[in-house]
Amino acid sequence: MLVFYGSKYGTAKRYAEEFARRAGTAAMSVRGRAPAAEGQTVVFFGALYAGKVRGLKKAAKRAAHCARLLVVTVGLADPSEPQVAESRRSAVLAGLPQDVHKQVQMFHLRGAIDYARLSAVHRLLMKMVRSMAERTPPEQRSPELRSILETYGKSADYTDLSALAAISDAANAESRPPQRAQTNGRE
Ligand SMILES: Cc1cc2nc3c(=O)[nH]c(=O)nc-3n(C[C@H](O)[C@H](O)[C@H](O)COP(=O)(O)O)c2cc1C
Repeated sequence: MLVFYGSKYGTAKRYAEEFARRAGTAAMSVRGRAPAAEGQTVVFFGALYAGKVRGLKKAAKRAAHCARLLVVTVGLADPSEPQVAESRRSAVLAGLPQDVHKQVQMFHLRGAIDYARLSAVHRLLMKMVRSMAERTPPEQRSPELRSILETYGKSADYTDLSALAAISDAANAESRPPQRAQTNGRE
């Protein structure tokens, strides 16, 4: 099994490392040098940035000849909300070649944010998103916007390592269950 991550501040990396540890292997950055995934199961943990999954395109290239691909998204919004799960699903599909769409198995997890650690660019971006969110009537705010307003300027951590169990089960399963996104291990 190959475990990759696309992470800027470490949340997706933390999930990937814990997942890999439980699987008896090591997680690697998708940006680094990595072995070919010929015939292997690939599990990729990618953080969400402005609706895109960080490192997903690279992960797809690395997984070109893999046996199975599991993509785990990590974002601030709560994926147990159907709207969030659906937008994560679209983000994953948008980042993968068409021929992989039917094979990929997805999971969606919640991450963390700490404004004290954000880069200047990310801080500015979040400031812009916040003022946009504030101008949006509350009933029209997406779950993503709501999660940004709730956590703006703070440190918030929704990491739930217990959600990894369902992903381990799926990665270890002989034959894949029918394609269905799972959120925080429940559903
Ligand atoms: C500039 C910026 C954009 C973000 N965009 C999204 C987003 O579109 N959807 C979401 O759910 N979370 C979003 N987040 C939250 C991150 O996905 C979350 O903090 C995640 O845990 C970061 O993972 P990392 O620590 O591995 O980089 C964003 C965070 C930042 C700083």
